[in-house]
Amino acid sequence: IRQLVKQRRPRGFPPGPTPLPMIGNILSLSKVFLTVRFFIFSLDLGGISTVILNGYDAIKECLYHQSEVFADRPSLPLFQKMTKMGGLLNCKYGRGWMEHHKLAVNCFRFFGSGQRMFGRISEECLFFLHAVEQHQGKPFNPKHLVTNAVSNITNLIIFGQRFTYDDSDFQHMIEIFSENVELAASGWAFLYNAFPWMEYVPFGKHQKLFRNANKVYDFLLQIIKRFSQDRVPQSPQHYIDAYLDEMEQSATDKATSFSQDNLIFSVGELIIAGTETTTNCLRWAMLYMALYPRIQEKVQMEIDCILNGRPPALEDKQRMPYVEAVLHEVLRFCNVVPLGIFRATSQDAVVRGYTIPRGTMVITNLYSVHFDEKYWSDPSIFCPERFLDCNGKFVRHEAFLPFSIGKRHCLGEQLARLEMFLFFTTLLQRFHLQFPEGFIPSLSPKLGMTLQPRSYSICAIRRQQ
Ligand code: HEM
Repeated sequence: IRQLVKQRRPRGFPPGPTPLPMIGNILSLSKVFLTVRFFIFSLDLGGISTVILNGYDAIKECLYHQSEVFADRPSLPLFQKMTKMGGLLNCKYGRGWMEHHKLAVNCFRFFGSGQRMFGRISEECLFFLHAVEQHQGKPFNPKHLVTNAVSNITNLIIFGQRFTYDDSDFQHMIEIFSENVELAASGWAFLYNAFPWMEYVPFGKHQKLFRNANKVYDFLLQIIKRFSQDRVPQSPQHYIDAYLDEMEQSATDKATSFSQDNLIFSVGELIIAGTETTTNCLRWAMLYMALYPRIQEKVQMEIDCILNGRPPALEDKQRMPYVEAVLHEVLRFCNVVPLGIFRATSQDAVVRGYTIPRGTMVITNLYSVHFDEKYWSDPSIFCPERFLDCNGKFVRHEAFLPFSIGKRHCLGEQLARLEMFLFFTTLLQRFHLQFPEGFIPSLSPKLGMTLQPRSYSICAIRRQQ
């Protein structure tokens, strides 16, 4: 009854469609990202008033020009149950986020950038190519291989070590974690957010989500213990070491946010944020190369011309505008994180005359930015050339925000860009990608917090160079 009489839309709030009793507009959520026309509107997600920001202008006006105001995460029952609003990615905006953000940025700079990281990603590429080679040009589903290879890059920063492609425990953990990314955007998750008493309903996908999360956290605790066994204090070799140093240093500070729980949550968030996204991008990139052989041919011509058979070096990234253009177009067109990660207002806000109270959930429709006709011509066409000028030089676009903007923008952007460049270039240098005879891939994505291609088979044929 409390849910029924809850005030649905605060005064001065942006307008939105009429909500159904109890569930509000939950059923319209899966179509939200396709709404590109309105600057701002609202939805009632089972009593949770939510603001949707659409198009580049709206997102820039809020996330960039009112960066702090829009820097919070919503205290949804699901997130409270999963990470108690701690950790890093889902952390409330405040001291906890600042401490974890600073530590992660420093670790990414120290362990995850420059020549050393480039070398380590290149090494992983060799393992990846070797595993692809094992299929001898026969059809295979690249999902697991790409996932393993990509997750190993974050593993190097977090644990200082990679996991072999036949490590079934690690793979199982990633599998159920990524299943949770899908479940977190399901109707069940929103029903749980609207009616937290559903915790006591023994069936439903929300229960699967809780079971998966418990298994993931148990596994992470075990490996964190394993990787910190030989730790030398104040001489960190990876994120776990650096975190434990912070925990020890702040042991007497009652208000510190560094804790064993937050260590587990932040490690989990870094693993999944780094793996799910980059993996999906590369899977889309492979799919589009097989779908458009002419684009693939141009990519390979540039690779052959610039690299002449040698492995790519750090400086080559700027020398390969066509490869850059293709990867940018994949990020624009495929929208792996279509609605960003849910934000919330950290204080009362005013946007174009509408009032948005503090603590309101905000959805950033990044998909709408990439299909915003004010900034892109023929946005529904896959066309890497839009990122090239008439001399074939790479050009940036303002309305290109796959990593979002503002205080909470993606922390792994540089690393992701480096990974995509290296995995993509080395793969296409060695193999020609094509679909098995008669196979027609589906281009409609599997919906979740991320958009991933539906499973497909591909043949990687060794190229003659
Ligand atoms: C946040 C996209 C790769 C770590 C985000 C957000 C987006 C995004 C859209 C939401 C930002 C917001 O709240 O507005 C992507 C894409 C990637 C990618 C498209 C690959 C192509 C990575 C990698 C890592 C990473 C490789 C690290 C290993 C994070 C973290 C956050 C985040 C920690 C949360 C930041 C915060 O709350 O302060 N990412 N990401 N991401 N990403 Fe990424």
